[in-house]
Amino acid sequence: MPLKTNPAGSVTEAMETRITVRGFLDKAVPEDVLTQIFETARRAPSGGNLQPWRAHVMTGKTLEGFTHDAIENVKSAQMEGETFPAYPSPLWEPQRSWRYKLGEDMYGLLEIPRDNKLGRMMWLANNARFFGAPVGIIITGNTKLGMAQHMDIGIYIQTLMLLAREAGLHTAPQGWWRRHPATAAKHLKIPEDEHVLVGMALGYGDPDSSVNNLWADRAELDELVHFYD
Ligand SMILES: Cc1cc2nc3c(=O)[nH]c(=O)nc-3n(C[C@H](O)[C@H](O)[C@H](O)COP(=O)(O)O)c2cc1C
Repeated sequence: MPLKTNPAGSVTEAMETRITVRGFLDKAVPEDVLTQIFETARRAPSGGNLQPWRAHVMTGKTLEGFTHDAIENVKSAQMEGETFPAYPSPLWEPQRSWRYKLGEDMYGLLEIPRDNKLGRMMWLANNARFFGAPVGIIITGNTKLGMAQHMDIGIYIQTLMLLAREAGLHTAPQGWWRRHPATAAKHLKIPEDEHVLVGMALGYGDPDSSVNNLWADRAELDELVHFYD
């Protein structure tokens, strides 16, 4: 299904047209549009109203310098550590299969077969470019945050993603950035007691990018939700 690029007119439409976009147009996001998204997202709820998120929003030269260093890291296979892992290891069913299917579907669209490990790795490195987006976002939080506050962070990033859709924009949430804490520390004003929780690419989605035809499967409703009467 092709990427929907029109601005979403309702929350339902924002939900139905949001996907993780991994190819962006080379088109700047107007400053007022960008600021308004973050202004409105201040209304995101959090347990105890802690508002534990801090957003670092990069464009222009800052983004250029940041992605340059991240790409250099990837080229030299340099790992800077990891705030926390993306998944429990080993994963169990059905989560293991969902993850596998996502990879197969994505690399299928990109026509990079399973045995082309280098090709898949090189494509993954597009994360370091924020997939070509004109806006790169790093979300940080205090190192002492607990599980409940990490839920708050999830709510915050979904809020950003839905507001982006209303503005005709698309996003890619990126846990990938947890592996580049030193790059983040070099380019951003991150206090000693904070660390990188997640990143996000934001911009105008490229409808001609084949990977943006990926509509990741979802489990059936009765697998996910129990209604009680
Ligand atoms: C917290 C979080 C971190 C993610 N990290 C990455 C990432 O580093 N790179 C990437 O390509 N996709 C990343 N994704 C996108 C997921 O793969 C995607 O949300 C999932 O497959 C569902 O697809 P959809 O967002 O297109 O509906 C992340 C998603 C979330 C919510």
